[in-house]
Amino acid sequence: MNWKLAVTIILGFILGSTSGLALLPGAQNMLNSASKLTRGVATVGGPFELVDQTGKAVSDKTYRGKHTLVYFGFTHCPDICPAGLQVITEALGKIGGKADNVTPLFISVDPERDTPAKLAEYLKSFDDRIVGLTGSLAQVTDTAKAYRVYFAKVANKRLPDDYTVDHSSFFYLMSPAGEFVKHFPHSISTKILARELQKVL
Ligand code: NI
Repeated sequence: MNWKLAVTIILGFILGSTSGLALLPGAQNMLNSASKLTRGVATVGGPFELVDQTGKAVSDKTYRGKHTLVYFGFTHCPDICPAGLQVITEALGKIGGKADNVTPLFISVDPERDTPAKLAEYLKSFDDRIVGLTGSLAQVTDTAKAYRVYFAKVANKRLPDDYTVDHSSFFYLMSPAGEFVKHFPHSISTKILARELQKVL
């Protein structure tokens, strides 16, 4: 048989199988991701189950009804995370009452050290509307995956018992329904973040 005929038969089998009995493993996944692409919805965010800084079990649904501003980091982070949280704190201060329409979520990528109590202590230095989230390593890994966030534990060569965590650091603005709206680099200025939040909230 020539190659065109072969392709037609294979395609026919894959397409036919989705409505028929035999489903190739992976074919459904391929079709699912294809339909996500054609709908044009950015697949950032999604369901998560974590624990907040008071020790309460929460999920993505806990924060529905208000925008969220999601930021991943860890309390031992020497500079990037504190700077990011400071920008959020100042931007919330600038937008006045509109700040009540957004819940900033600081999600730890270092659940081993970031217990709820540790997060609560750390967040005292920032706006008290910022919610700290942690969980098991599996829960945090799943959440980071949903947000396309990279993180990796890196050994400290000089202090064998110590480590740091490399991580990507964007702010993700999510809608009250939990859908991705926009992301900002952590290097965004307070002024621009405030202006962006003001536009949306
Ligand atoms: Ni950091």
